[in-house]
Amino acid sequence: MKLLIVGGGGREHALAWRFRLEHPDVTLIAAPGNPGMATIATCVPVGAADIPGLLSLAQSEAVDAVIVGPEAPLAAGLADQCIARGIPVFGPTTAAAQLETSKAFAKALMTDAGVPTGRASLHTTVASAKAAARDFGAPVVIKASGLAAGKGVVVAMTMNEADAAIMSMLDDNIFGDAGAEVLVEEFMTGEELSLFVLTDGETAVPLPAAQDHKRVGEGDSGPNTGGMGAYCPADAGDPSFTWRDRTLPAGVQHVLDIIVEPTLRAMRERGVPFKGLLYCGVMLTPTGPRVVEFNCRFGDPETQAVLPVITADGQLTRVMLQIARGERIDPVQVFDPGDIFAVATVVAAAGYPLAPRTGDVITLPTFDSNDEFLFHAGTTPRDGALVTSGGRVFTATAIGATLAVAQQWSRHLASEVKFTGAFFRRDIAWRALARGA
Ligand code: GLY
Repeated sequence: MKLLIVGGGGREHALAWRFRLEHPDVTLIAAPGNPGMATIATCVPVGAADIPGLLSLAQSEAVDAVIVGPEAPLAAGLADQCIARGIPVFGPTTAAAQLETSKAFAKALMTDAGVPTGRASLHTTVASAKAAARDFGAPVVIKASGLAAGKGVVVAMTMNEADAAIMSMLDDNIFGDAGAEVLVEEFMTGEELSLFVLTDGETAVPLPAAQDHKRVGEGDSGPNTGGMGAYCPADAGDPSFTWRDRTLPAGVQHVLDIIVEPTLRAMRERGVPFKGLLYCGVMLTPTGPRVVEFNCRFGDPETQAVLPVITADGQLTRVMLQIARGERIDPVQVFDPGDIFAVATVVAAAGYPLAPRTGDVITLPTFDSNDEFLFHAGTTPRDGALVTSGGRVFTATAIGATLAVAQQWSRHLASEVKFTGAFFRRDIAWRALARGA
């Protein structure tokens, strides 16, 4: 079996690790991959945005499937182009990826399909957006409709912050076309879960839920990032989301029933079936689960916490390949988290998320443990050394029999990665641990 993994972050490294674990003899090609992936895959210098280059690589290597990590190539039509050439591809078409790439599309679809989500209105002028923000009152959420590299959502605690966000998107065009339409959305209270669902467009198979930590600082302080760490399995303190006896929790089944199933049905009815990985960002509010956002691909860093805990050896690759080939998947498949927890701690570069410093020489820890994983993200070789090349540099994941143990070892591994300005949050999974999980 030969797979082409598109992307070069911690998520793609974790996917490569999982494919190799499930199929030791798999041939993995990564485009562009990263130095960590290079130990288990052949990395080819074709960028994730180079659609013609990726297609030509997939064809010349005659891969069994293209596995797309990031959203940008999906938005740019990589899956459509693969399908047109008969290349199996894991990831939705451009039209189906709109669940992530157009928050206006996703909100309209959810409203039409009766999927619970925050109330929102769509605006192209500053005046109407400001008026809508005042109708909701602070706090209020301002979202650029298009893809904005994870920076397009502002939780405004005051009207001044809301006005500033609206003007930056609609007047100053800080996100270009992606911010030409702005959603003003009600602020929802509760705890958020990232629930990943594998789907062939009809059947949905969930992976154990994770919880991301989006703020840069401990105790969820400071600016938003792409994610500073995650843990899995997560139940957000709601026992109906807790895995017991390897059985799908009732809370997860409820989310499948009221969110996933109607969303997939509405996509089919619009002629744009969603096939791949549907990332449901779900807020467990006092009135029940509601959608915060959909993404059209695996989350990062949640993937680095989810993939190390799932049991069902061999099954993730099998189900992903079935979806890539356009086959139906087995509805009774259950990926349970077994009896372990994973904590994934992101090691970031000085200045992240605003202006991350790059080019710092990295010293890697030596460790010999099946319970720890160092997934590369922003690393690159230079003059025989490994140097930083992005804001999120590594994800240090550890698994353990308890969440506390997993957190302790994840933190320890993160602290052993050395480069000037390295920092990480020491409190990933703090909410669950504060509850005594
Ligand atoms: N961790 C959030 C995301 O992948 O979008």
